[in-house]
This record gives sequence, structure tokens and C-alpha cells, in this order.
Amino acid sequence: MKNKKIIAAPSILSSDFSRIREELQLIQSSGAEWVHLDVMDGCFVPNITFGPKFIKDIRSCSNLFFDTHLMVDNPEKYISDFADAGSDAITIHYEAAVHLHRAVQHIHETGKLAGVSVVPSTPVELLEDLLSELDIVLVMTVNPGFGGQSLIPFCIEKVRKLKAMCQRINPDCRIAVDGGVNTSTIIPLKEAGIDIAVAGSAFFSAASPKAFISEICRA
Ligand code: DX5
Ligand code: ZN
Repeated sequence: MKNKKIIAAPSILSSDFSRIREELQLIQSSGAEWVHLDVMDGCFVPNITFGPKFIKDIRSCSNLFFDTHLMVDNPEKYISDFADAGSDAITIHYEAAVHLHRAVQHIHETGKLAGVSVVPSTPVELLEDLLSELDIVLVMTVNPGFGGQSLIPFCIEKVRKLKAMCQRINPDCRIAVDGGVNTSTIIPLKEAGIDIAVAGSAFFSAASPKAFISEICRA
């Protein structure tokens, strides 16, 4: 197992949006440094959440690192909007952008960290040529669209393969996982080599969010 601390990124998808200021404060007081912002368009995924206006508004009440996950078709059209709204990292989907290299360059031009995500059925090997230019690869461990699903076990093997690719091509690239992360599934994910763990329902249903974060982050 790695002896490196994991970055925890609670996802507000499972929070109460009517109390978003308090929910962001809860994330901050839990010890997490990142917040994961799931943007869904009802096309790329069968659910709709929020857009750049919402992110811009909550930017004024939080100093957390804003980790924006765009589950939208044609994400290249919205990169500037989400950068201007105050995102610190922008992750787009391999499956949603034909000209992925150009889109990653665009994210870097805005000064933000650039991530690419793959859904469970997309092999991580398809990212090999682009890997040297990525800051984050987000391995979806559920089919995206909803919180509260169970982790799909074969995705852990994808993390192992990606870890080996990163060691060979880009050791600075961070590996993130998203979907079904809890205090049990985090154990094999850490062994497989993750750097960032996104957690929605497990964080917001934890009896002690602080204890949950320290367990997720513990090396
Ligand atoms: C799912 C989203 C996730 C979601 C994870 O499509 O990308 O970030 O919030 O939720 P949990 O942790 O409940 O599986
Ligand atoms: Zn997400």
C-alpha cells in the first residue's frame, strides 16, 4: 500500500442545495480540502444538476478547491464559463469530446488543472497518448448520473493499469475515483494507487464527517 495521503473530495450531489452554505462549511470543517462539483446536462448522463452560475455563486462562500466534473456533451463549449465561475480543476469526459486534446489545451490556457474522466466501459489504455498532458485522470467507478450507487469491482483493476501507465508516462498525474467510495471500498482503491477519492452519499450520511475524511485520507 502507498504511504501517501489521499485527497478527499466530497461531492455536493448528495448535499441539501437549500442549505448549500452550511454544507460547504461542513465539508471544510471535516478536514477535506477539495469539493467535487458534479455538472450534469441530461444528455451525456440521465440527470440534470447545475451550471456555472451556481458555481460562481458558491465561490463567494468557500475557499475549498473547486473540482468541477463536467458530465456534459460538447464540454469544450463550456470550459471558459466554468473556469470563469471559479473552478480550480476542470474534468471532462473522454466519451464526450471528439477533440479531447484541444479541449485539454483549452483548460490549461484558462490556468486550471485539466482532468479527463472515463466511464466504466472505456478502457484506460485509450488515454495513453494524452496522459503526459493531464493533471488528473478520473476513473468512474459507477456509471455516472446518480449518487448512491455501488462501486463496480472491475474498475479497481482499471486503476491498477492506470497507475502503471502513470508511473511510466506521467508520475505527476493524479488518479481520482468517483462513485461508490466508502470506508470499505477505499481499501482496495488505495492499494490500487489512487490519489483522490470523490465521495458523495458516504460523506453526507456519515455519523462523523470528520472521522470519515480522516479514514479516507489515511495513508
Ligand atoms: C456520479 C457523480 C459522483 C457522485 C458520487 O455520477 O459523478 O460524483 O456524487 O456519489 P456517491 O459517492 O454517492 O457514489
Ligand atoms: Zn463526479
